[in-house]
Amino acid sequence: MSATPVDLSARETLDVLRHVLAPMLAEGAIVRRPRVTAWAERQQVDRQAARVLDTLRDRYDGAPLSVRIGPRRVVLVTTPQDVARILDGSPEPFTPATREKTAALRHFQPSGVLISPPAARRSRRPLNERALASGHRAHPDADQIVAQVARTADEIAAAVDASGGLDAATFTEAWWRLVRTVTLGERAREDHELTDRLTALRRGANWAYFQPVRHRLRAAFREQVAARVAEAEPGTLAAAARAAAEDLARTADGTGYAYDPADQVPHWLFAFDAAGMATLRALAVAAARPAVRERLVDELAAADPVLADAGPGAPVLPYARACVLESVRLWPTTLVILRDATEPTTWGGRTLPAGTGFAVVSGYVHRDAGRIDFADAFTPEAWLDGRADADRALVPFSAGPAECAGRDVVLFTTSHLLARLAGLGLAVDRGEHLADDPLPRTVDHLQLRFRQRERVTPVGGTVST
Ligand code: HEM
Repeated sequence: MSATPVDLSARETLDVLRHVLAPMLAEGAIVRRPRVTAWAERQQVDRQAARVLDTLRDRYDGAPLSVRIGPRRVVLVTTPQDVARILDGSPEPFTPATREKTAALRHFQPSGVLISPPAARRSRRPLNERALASGHRAHPDADQIVAQVARTADEIAAAVDASGGLDAATFTEAWWRLVRTVTLGERAREDHELTDRLTALRRGANWAYFQPVRHRLRAAFREQVAARVAEAEPGTLAAAARAAAEDLARTADGTGYAYDPADQVPHWLFAFDAAGMATLRALAVAAARPAVRERLVDELAAADPVLADAGPGAPVLPYARACVLESVRLWPTTLVILRDATEPTTWGGRTLPAGTGFAVVSGYVHRDAGRIDFADAFTPEAWLDGRADADRALVPFSAGPAECAGRDVVLFTTSHLLARLAGLGLAVDRGEHLADDPLPRTVDHLQLRFRQRERVTPVGGTVST
């Protein structure tokens, strides 16, 4: 297999632009555009992208694919070794703070760790890791998180009872209440203005450098976040961030790093949106597959006889966690992972200049049938038996030193919500597409609709309602 990047021809470049990159940009990298995501599902745009990339991968024997877009060179990597190289090599010589990402994210989180230069990253990354308890499957505030999840599940159950179903809009409203409460506390629960401001700024971020930053709105949002962080009660992620900031400041080596949690929280709020999408898609699969649904319900029941409501030692739910991981493998919410080389990079027989961009098209590498025998099949087991971890290109949360710092708290929160919602016995509209493998490449979470069918009682039984 060749490791030397190949320059694509004008025709090949056009195919990549048209079928791989343009649909992603159109869907909205930072906040999805509902009309476009509906179109993307109808067209199954990810299937077409995979066809183009399969052809190029086979033609060039897995070599990195170098695309020129004006003055910019972006190299698409498709093999596990190449993916691992750029992610393990972050933040230097492959910085996550790429030109495009910086242009986009500065619209609402100019000091977020993801787009921070190396010196600032050295202080901001530990703050994120500590507050979010990266590397710990259950967050120290797991009990409070589970209590809020249970409350949200009850709220959704009441909406289902009242209307006989659940749509993405109803889910999303309840989801944001949960996100604000877990992140910023009870007083922020109904602060819809905060989320609305963030969404408005994210719309601008979709346009990256092509739209000016809305400075006044960004400042008002930042102030609102800072006020919420300051008042957040113990048990919230913001309070954990405050504690981490104080602790880090005490142990700082006098380099004058700034540890302001309010700089990091905008990313958390933004990224929780993706966690909602992942939960909704996993729920859709569970609703279409009785075996998945029942296993989720049984796992929750076995974990705690009172359905794991708040109490010391809130349990990890490995199967539900694996279902969410599988949801983001099949339908990644970070459509592309980007890195920029900070120095000249020798790759195979070639040296690429500093500033070269590298891209991992997640939806493609996660479902490469040439490598993965469960490519298009819902296989949460792969996250339990080590198969997924052994494949360095399965990176829904990225990997290496700049891996998603929220991975564990996200999986903890979403697994508990998924397990509870599975017990509502929902059927999903158009479920035939999700009931069997192979699963569709593109699923628009915004169009998912569920009907009430039956409540599922633990250990396999069902109760009609
Ligand atoms: C399903 C939900 C999520 C997924 C799939 C996800 C995925 C990712 C990915 C792929 C990256 C790397 C992006 C890049 O390199 O360009 C990332 C970065 C990050 N994520 Fe997440 N994320 C999720 C939710 C969250 C949440 C809810 C939080 C916080 C509560 C969070 C915190 C972070 C942080 C702080 C970074 C930056 C890490 C760094 O640059 O060192 N994420 N995430």
